[in-house]
Formats: sequence, C-alpha cells, structure tokens
Amino acid sequence: MISREDWAKEFLRRLSKREDEMKWLYMELYNDQDAYDYFVGMLYRMYCERSETLRAWDRERLGKSAWYQKNDVLGMVMYVNCFAENIRGILDHFDYLQKCGIKYLHLMPPLESPEGKSDGGYAVSDFRKIEPELGTMEDLAELSARCHEAGIYVCLDFVMNHTSDEHEWAIKAKQGNPDYMNRYFFFDNWDIPNEFEKTVPQVFPTTAPGNFSWCPEVGKVVMTTFYPYQWDLNYGNCVVFNDMTENMLYLCNNGVDIVRLDATPYIWKELGTNCRNLPKVHTLVRIMRLASEIVCPGTLLLGEVVMEPSKVVPYFGTVEKPECHLLYNVTTMASTWHTVATKDVNLLKHQLSSVFALPGDYTFLNYLRCHDDIGWGLDYDFLANYGMEQVAHKKFLNDYLTGNYYGSYARGELYNNDPSLGDARLCGTTASLCGIEGALETENAEKLEDAIRLDRMLHAFLLTQSGVPVLYSGDEVGQLNDNGYHNDPLKREDSRYIHRGNFDWKKVQNLQDLSTVEGQVYSSVMKLAKIRKDYQVFNSKADIWLLEPYNDHILGIGRYYEGQKLLALFNFADAEEIAWLYEEGEYTDLWTGIKKDAMEVHLKAHDFVWLYREFEDTYEDETDFS
Ligand code: GLC
Repeated sequence: MISREDWAKEFLRRLSKREDEMKWLYMELYNDQDAYDYFVGMLYRMYCERSETLRAWDRERLGKSAWYQKNDVLGMVMYVNCFAENIRGILDHFDYLQKCGIKYLHLMPPLESPEGKSDGGYAVSDFRKIEPELGTMEDLAELSARCHEAGIYVCLDFVMNHTSDEHEWAIKAKQGNPDYMNRYFFFDNWDIPNEFEKTVPQVFPTTAPGNFSWCPEVGKVVMTTFYPYQWDLNYGNCVVFNDMTENMLYLCNNGVDIVRLDATPYIWKELGTNCRNLPKVHTLVRIMRLASEIVCPGTLLLGEVVMEPSKVVPYFGTVEKPECHLLYNVTTMASTWHTVATKDVNLLKHQLSSVFALPGDYTFLNYLRCHDDIGWGLDYDFLANYGMEQVAHKKFLNDYLTGNYYGSYARGELYNNDPSLGDARLCGTTASLCGIEGALETENAEKLEDAIRLDRMLHAFLLTQSGVPVLYSGDEVGQLNDNGYHNDPLKREDSRYIHRGNFDWKKVQNLQDLSTVEGQVYSSVMKLAKIRKDYQVFNSKADIWLLEPYNDHILGIGRYYEGQKLLALFNFADAEEIAWLYEEGEYTDLWTGIKKDAMEVHLKAHDFVWLYREFEDTYEDETDFS
C-alpha cells in the first residue's frame, strides 16, 4: 500500500481542505482511529478507480456548479423496465429524451433485487450489480457517458437504510455469523422491539405492519422498518458506514451525478425515540457530502425526506456546512393536490410563503407525481383555522381524488388504508387524478377539456416554481392509471403500481395530433418547458413572492430577475374567476402571446396566465416621480 504522502496531489488537496471537519465528525460517531484510517484509505482507492473521463467531467461539472438552479433544467424520473424494458432500450429511445429536452434523468433503482421481494427495486441484494433483466453495470456506464455527452445529468437511488434479506451480508447473518449480524439490528426476543414499537410509527401499517420481523434461521428478531425482507442497517457500526459509503462512490464511479439518498431520515435508530431525523443522521449525511466532494466533486446529494417542512429544511445543512444539494418539495406537492380537491388556495399560499422565505440557495426538486403515494402530511394546525379537522379532511381528500365525491372525475386509489387512524394515502397518475380518465370513461367531452386544462395548469404551476422540475415519465403524454396490477399476484397488494404502468410508445406516434389527449398534453408540457427555458425570470436566482388576487380560488406568484417580471395566476375553481391584481403596465401572456393589463384578470376554470413584462431601466422606473 502506498503511503499517504505519495497519494495524488489533487486528492490530497481536496482532503486537506475537509479533513479536519470530516475526522471530527467521524470520531464523534465511532471514536475508532483504525476505522477512520480505513475510511480515508477507501476514499483514496475510490478516487484511483475513478476513470480519467469522469475526473474530467468532475472539473467540468464544478465549473457549472449551479446548473441545477437554471431555468433550462427539466427532469424526468422513470422505471427502466416501464420505459424501455432495459437500459439498452433507453439508449435506443435516447432521441425521445432529447426531444423532450430532458437534462436530468432519474432511473428508479435498477440494482439487483429479488423478484417478489423487491419493493420496486428498494430491496437491494447487490449494490454492485444491475438487475440482470435490466442490463449490466457496463450498460449503465455507457448510458451515463451518452447522457454526459448530451449534457444530461444522471440520478440514481442509493438505498442506504436497508438491504434485501438476500444480500450477502444478510445471508451471512442468517448463518449466525456475528460480524454480519452486527451489521443489522438483532434481538434475542421481543422485549426491546416492543419497547421500540411504543415510540416508532409505522411506514406501511397495512402492507407491512410493525417495525420488526422474526428471523427463523437464527431464532431472533430483526429490525425491518419497511417490508420484512428489508433489513435495517446498523449505522452505529462503522463497518456498515464505511462499506455503504464505498457502495455509494462505486455508483458515482459508474457515472451517477446525483445520488438520491433513499429514506434519509431513517438511517439512525435509538430506543425511546421515533427513529426519524435524529441528529446523527445529519452527521452521517454531512460526512457523505464531504466524501463525495473529495472523490467525485460536482456530485449532488438529493435527500428523500418525506416529512413536514420543519423536518425537511435542516437537511440542506448550513451555508458553511451544507448537507444535501437538493430536497423534494413534498409538502408543496401534497398541498397542490389538496388545492385541486378543495379549490381553495389558502393552504398552498401558506406553504409557498414558507418556501419563498428560505435562502435562495436552498434548491428544491419540484414534482406533481412520483413513483410513491401521496401522503397527506399537511399543516393541520393551519387548516384548523378554517375548521378542517385532520381525519375528516383526509377522508374528504381521498373521497374526492378517488372520484367518490359529487362532481369529481378523479380516479385515484387508496394506499395503506388504516381505518383505525383514518390515515389512507393516495395513488394515481397526474392525468387520472386530474379527471382525464374519468372524463374519457364517461365520454364527457366538456369534462375532458376541463381535465386537460387542469393538467396543463398544474404543469404550469410546477414550472413556475424555483428549483428542478421533474416529470414523472408518462405524465408528459397524459398517461392514465394502469389497472392491470390488480391481476398480478406480486403487485396487487401495493396500489402504488397503479401509477407504475408501462410507457405506451403507441401514444408517441400521436404527439403531433392535437385531437388526441396525448397530443394536447404533450404539446402543452413541451411549450411550457420551452417558455421556461427561454426566459431567465424562471431561474432559481429570481426573486419570488406571492401575489394577492383577492380571490381564494386563485393562486398568484410573482417572479423578478434582472428587469424581467412575471405574474403567474392559477385558477383552481371549476368556474371562471377574476384576479384583482391592480398591477400597472402592459403585460404579455407568454402562453397565448396576447397583450393585456394586469388589473382585473379573468381566468376560465382551471386556466392560468403567465403575464410577462420587461423593464428597460428599473432604477429610473422606480424613482421617476415627475
Ligand atoms: C423510499 C421509496 C419507496 C420505498 C421506501 C423503502 O421511501 O421512495 O418507494 O418503498 O423508500 O425503501
């Protein structure tokens, strides 16, 4: 082994800038010098294994460090098999991704994971191997190289909270090997697990109740926060952290640019707590950030923190000690669907006002739908001011969005319905939740037009927000629910599969035909994205604020950037409404090209406007009192 003094200068330079803090944090957790030395040695090994091409890419990415805050970024997230059977299939359809203008591509977990016990790829049995039917690690490296040439950044999940019970470590643990048992949480009987259950909530109360499972091979209880076949890793053991960090860097060395830290808040467990968001989670994430800055700078960490805002924001870290580069804007997403159902924008305004108040460098990943359910983690204290009570309100939202409410054409399905808590969550594609499926089913042309308008308005709202807008593959062509999962014994218990259907390539042939739903949705989404790309006012550095339209059905957002001003209005009502804006001057609606003033703006049901105006010289404009 070469001694530290002989390590590459580039590595040593990056290490020396960060080592003081990194070692401090590491020792605070593990207090083990040998383990720390191993950790740093592993970082150097991963640096050496990184290809010259990727090292050059690191330097290029660093030069464009804020690429993800620009207005030309459009993301897409997809299951490899649903989109194109396998990774090579994505290469075959690469022109489609480029036609859509995708700059950020998130592949749902493609690593090896046992059939029937995979949780959609979230139960990994080998962190170094692609699921054989999806391809090989070489295919992934080839796809990412092709993406990089085309200026597309690649995101992959790093499922770090647990492994599959068929992972090599779990197999050795089942054989009773103490070193491997120590990588998980094993208990001789149910006494301690029962103590944990008193304070730890359940993730899947219906499909996988409880947080522990019996392991017959060793006659012990093992911690399984998610499904029984997903064994929680014990990050109190430094070997787990060292090896998992190495696994993360291995993915980066295969061309991954954005690491989605799956289930981030769960990775540290302590008896007597809810085992969520504990302070040591932040220590671990911060060390991982430092490790990636040393080995593969320019890599972004995307935290999956599906929690209320006060729990999400700390994962950005501080300006001096940042943790994640990107976080999901989960509460805005859930509040948006609440607004679709209630047609009242007050909660969404309240939510956005807290997002808009955050430092501009905190960048969110915005989305309407993703592979998971919509959990109703809303601000119920705020809703109480409007007489809305949690259980009754969740029931209303679920009734509305499953189409069991007067006037609703939405076609969602419940997820993990827990009648004791009245706490069901919701699944369905954007198009089906907007009512497109219901309108087609009932052959209601007027409703269909309205549902497509709602779908368009929600995409316009998505693209109005600062941050990275990510489309859920299929949403760009108005893909409907896939009810076929009900007949699949491996999927039918998990209604999230309703929005995990195969991409319908036949629809792509109709995209130019505006008499089709896919043609209308696609042309709208693409036109919106093009406008966003053409106007700097949409970049994340712009000022952003709430407008006051004096109408509870209309959401108003203002943006300003270097002389460009945008007034965006979204009507969530079923009927025409008026926004009383009283903004002076002549604006152009970027969507229709029509010039109008922004005093009294009329909006059809579920319509929106992007009113735009340029200022030649802002200083004079503001100070000319003559
Ligand atoms: C994340 C994923 C979800 C998965 C869970 C367990 O929350 O988004 O799909 O079930 O982690 O890994």
